[in-house]
Amino acid sequence: MKILGIETSCDETGAAVTSLTSDKKSVQLISSSLATSLERHAKTGGIIPEVAARNQSTYIIPVIYEALEKADIHIANNTPDIDAIAVTFGPGLIGSLLVGVETAKTLSYVWNKPLIPVNHLFGHVYANFIQTSDDFKPPSFPAIALIVSGGHTDIIYMKNHTDIIWVGGTRDDAAGECFDKCARLLGYPYPGGPKISELAKKGDKNAFSFPRPMIGSGDFEFSFSGLKTSFLNETKQIFPILRTTNEKIGWQQIALEEQITESQRQILYDLCASLQYAIIDVIVKKTVKALQQYNATSLILSGGVAANEMLRTTFQETLNKKLGQEVSLHVPPRSLCTDNAAMIAAAATFHSSSTSWKNLSANPQLYFD
Ligand code: KG4
Ligand code: ZN
Repeated sequence: MKILGIETSCDETGAAVTSLTSDKKSVQLISSSLATSLERHAKTGGIIPEVAARNQSTYIIPVIYEALEKADIHIANNTPDIDAIAVTFGPGLIGSLLVGVETAKTLSYVWNKPLIPVNHLFGHVYANFIQTSDDFKPPSFPAIALIVSGGHTDIIYMKNHTDIIWVGGTRDDAAGECFDKCARLLGYPYPGGPKISELAKKGDKNAFSFPRPMIGSGDFEFSFSGLKTSFLNETKQIFPILRTTNEKIGWQQIALEEQITESQRQILYDLCASLQYAIIDVIVKKTVKALQQYNATSLILSGGVAANEMLRTTFQETLNKKLGQEVSLHVPPRSLCTDNAAMIAAAATFHSSSTSWKNLSANPQLYFD
């Protein structure tokens, strides 16, 4: 089964072609094309939906064209050699989603191909079913999947490809959002997660003891907004410059790091390391609890924050040492952690119920059923 996947939920425009492997357990990536409007959002410290949507409409046709060309798929006579078109229909920014959804509907009609709508969140999970090496092994079931992105922090239980239960998620900010907003205070543009983790490498993670919200709540819910506030308050107290020139720092990317002395810089690194540790500590403890409760044999990490090195190594160390049950860790390569179309095609391969182009609408609020 060969699928053309299309992803336009936020600021990335992606198209990719995948095919099901002969053992039917994973997919092979045949081609992929990705354009991003990320740098256009840097100056504003966050994504401007209108700008993202305009760029989606500029990029969508060239990106699809490139993915098909790389896969040697010809569209002459409107008979491309694909079995279906998969598209993200939510959640995301409405203007961005509409570009992908309406393009996919048009192609489905013109090419007379089935149209498979994909929930972006499942897309992230299925990045783990894309063959990335010769000895690649897909996750086994039952599995616990953790989705940690800029907009979501969710744990889901997968008994198999179709029997899926939402276990818990964040009540307020997502983990990625916490990274991004704290980075913004320090003068770094979106996405701030990679910058915080880079600064954290030079810091002491035990220097500040930030709260671990809901760590003992006994359920699988998260809350990151209190932690964010705690970081913002502590940092502003240590660096009063942030109280007076915050606007300048936040919007013009004059990083705090460049305005302080060498010894003050160490405190900044310690703050970042302690923040990262607090976020990861909560995520790891809750996820491990879910693995145990659901007797899972695989842990699937997904979403942009899964690119975080400390998160990956902490999970690996925890699974190696403490668990008392065999759990294999699955993490996509960094390029498949953030938004891409290969993951959308992969999800559609295992959830292939198609719909008529007449019935599909973008759903920015889509969550789990
Ligand atoms: O999945 P994604 O590309 O987009 C959404 O669907 O949200 O995730 C983007 C998020 C941003 O919040 C970004 O700061 C975070 O992923 N991120 C990271 C790292 N790389 C990306 N957070 C922490 N450490 C990283 N290395
Ligand atoms: Zn995403």
